[in-house]
Amino acid sequence: MASTVPNAQALEARYGSTHRKDRWWVEPLVTGSGLLIFVIYSTISAMLLGGGSADDPMVAYYTEGHTYLSPFFEPLIHPDWLPVWISPALFILWAPLGFRTTCYYYRKTYYRAYFLSPPGCAVREPAGSYSGESTFPLIIQNIHRWFMYVAIVFVPILFVGAYKSFWHDGEFGIGIGSIILTLNAVFLTMYTIGCHSLRHWVAGGLNQFSRTPFRRLRYRLWEIFTVANEQHRRWAWTSLIWVGLSDLYVRLVANDVLTDFNTWGNF
Ligand code: FES
Repeated sequence: MASTVPNAQALEARYGSTHRKDRWWVEPLVTGSGLLIFVIYSTISAMLLGGGSADDPMVAYYTEGHTYLSPFFEPLIHPDWLPVWISPALFILWAPLGFRTTCYYYRKTYYRAYFLSPPGCAVREPAGSYSGESTFPLIIQNIHRWFMYVAIVFVPILFVGAYKSFWHDGEFGIGIGSIILTLNAVFLTMYTIGCHSLRHWVAGGLNQFSRTPFRRLRYRLWEIFTVANEQHRRWAWTSLIWVGLSDLYVRLVANDVLTDFNTWGNF
């Protein structure tokens, strides 16, 4: 009679098989779900202009007196000739979206969670061979460096937005929203300067360090960026969750669902 117990070789070859005893599937499940929630929320929020008044759809993402602007719309690009139903977020979000989707950390996350390739370390994947990201289509991921150049530009822009959040109708003050938007700029900065491509760009790939121009400055920057780089996963999640919460907060305040406590008198 044929045995119903798979032999060791068959088990090795079966998709999803592993000798791991821990709950290796928890991480891809949690991170995959978290990413999915963010993508759904940010897509809806970026497209959703409703909730403000019919005359002024901008109220959906901008508080009265232009104190708080949702980071999804920072910097605000909405020329007069553009129909109001076209969301200004469309001009912005491609950059952080491209930066994040090609990020080394997020690649690992969605390769595991969505493509199950592999589902986890030492867990059998379906592919019989492996060419990594050296061939089409995944070679496109190398565009990450170019998105990194664009993402750097957003760092000062977000700080300018945070600075503006301390002003309401020309009067300096502070509100819960100011704190939220400032932290958002800080978290996104930590995520950006921890980028592997950025760290390599400032001081990596050097053949002869002693002959490198600005070597001390570059080495110093490399040291600073390394601090953020070592916690890249943490900053990736902190900044992702926080930017979503920041948008939600501004949206709720702008639509009078929440009250912002501040020194100007609540609004
Ligand atoms: S590697 Fe994650 S942002 Fe560049």
